[in-house]
Amino acid sequence: MDLKSLVRDIPDFPKPGILFRDITTLLRDREGLRYTIDFFAEKCNEAEFQADYIIGMESRGFIFGTPLAYKLGAGFIPVRKKGKLPAAVHSIEYQLEYGTDCLEMHQDALHPGSRVLIVDDLIATGGTASATAKLVQQLDCELVGFGFIIELRDLQGRKNLPDVPIISLIEY
Ligand code: PRP
Ligand code: ADE
Ligand code: MG
Repeated sequence: MDLKSLVRDIPDFPKPGILFRDITTLLRDREGLRYTIDFFAEKCNEAEFQADYIIGMESRGFIFGTPLAYKLGAGFIPVRKKGKLPAAVHSIEYQLEYGTDCLEMHQDALHPGSRVLIVDDLIATGGTASATAKLVQQLDCELVGFGFIIELRDLQGRKNLPDVPIISLIEY
């Protein structure tokens, strides 16, 4: 299936100069959605990711991370934007393609030695994914890899990630 044709391009959102890759058009396509999740799980299995937990970053990482966790038989851990999680958190500040933000994860979500796969809809600069990796690695967990639906190659986000396998389904 041509997944790229299901992603809508919106120029100058949310700021002039940003070409926004909109996944809502892929999500609303029932065959496209099913294919995307199945293909994502297949690529994770091919990469031999052995994960106890999938970590997904608010908010678009939740959309793909949770069904992937279900398919891989892993648990799902949400990493959220500041002030949303109710129990004690670890926090990290990070840079976005268009601003800065802060991510948090519950302190008791992971135990040392847990095997973790980080999942998001898209990697641009890699700021979000690398900040999440730092949260995981501070806790002496094993980061087995990263999975993205979309990779914006020009921004070279991979260079900002730790040296573990990275998969993406669609590249620009
Ligand atoms: C978007 C996207 C990724 C991140 C990628 O999230 O969903 O999480 O940007 O950019 P980066 O590689 O430069 O960090 P955003 O923070 O816009 O929020 P959302 O998921 O809540 O829409
Ligand atoms: N997140 C960061 N950069 C993005 C882009 N160009 N399109 C969609 N989401 C993004
Ligand atoms: Mg996001």
